[in-house]
Amino acid sequence: MAQLVAATYNMHKLEEYKELLADQNIEIVSLNDYSGYEEPEENGKNFAENASIKALEAANYCDTPSFADDSGLEVEALDNAPGIYSARYAENDEARIARILKELGDNPNRRARFVCVIAIAANGEVIETFRGEVNGVIIDAPRGDNGFGYDPIFLPDGYDKTFAELSAEEKNKISHRAKAVAKAIGFVEEEMGILDDEFDDF
Ligand code: IMP
Repeated sequence: MAQLVAATYNMHKLEEYKELLADQNIEIVSLNDYSGYEEPEENGKNFAENASIKALEAANYCDTPSFADDSGLEVEALDNAPGIYSARYAENDEARIARILKELGDNPNRRARFVCVIAIAANGEVIETFRGEVNGVIIDAPRGDNGFGYDPIFLPDGYDKTFAELSAEEKNKISHRAKAVAKAIGFVEEEMGILDDEFDDF
C-alpha cells in the first residue's frame, strides 16, 4: 500500500485526514513517525504557497510522497483577516475567537469562509495544489464543543448548527478540508500512473 506523509503535528487535522482518507488504498503516516524533523517557516504569501512549503519540506526530509495543508478563516468585513495568520491571531483558540468577535463588534456583515489548500509533493517537487472553501457567517457568541479553532463561531450556509455543534462526520461532509481532499483524491486516482511511479521510486 502506498504511504503518504501527512505533514502536520496538528492532531485534530490528522484525525480529520485519517477519517477523510479511510476508504483509500493509502497508508497515512504523520511527522510523529519521523524524528528530528523541524517544521519550515511558513513565509508564503497565500495558502497555496504555505501548503507547498510544508509539503515539499516533508517529502524531502521523509523521502516519501507527502501532503500538507494550509487553512484558515477569512472574514469579509475584516478584509479577509485572519486568513493565513489564523493560527497566529492570538495565543489560543479562546483568545482567537474573542479577537474576531471584538473586531467585528456589531458589524452587520458577518460573511466568512474557511479555506483549505492541500499541496502534494514528491521527488523534490510540488506536484499539485487543491483548494476547498466553505461559506458561512460568524455568529455573536461561541456555540458547541466539537472540532477546533474557530469552529464554535462559524455557522455554515444552510445549517443551523455551528461547525462545533456538528458531529465530526457531519463536518467532514461539508468542510473546506473535505472539499480539498475530494479534489486531491480525484487527482490521485486520475493521475495514479504518475503517482504509482513516484511511490514506486521510494
Ligand atoms: P495552519 O495549521 O497554519 O493551517 O493553521 C490553520 C488555523 O486556521 C488553525 O489553527 C485554526 O485556527 C484555523 N482553522 C483551520 N481549519 C479550521 C477548521 O476546520 N475549524 C476551525 N478552525 C480552523
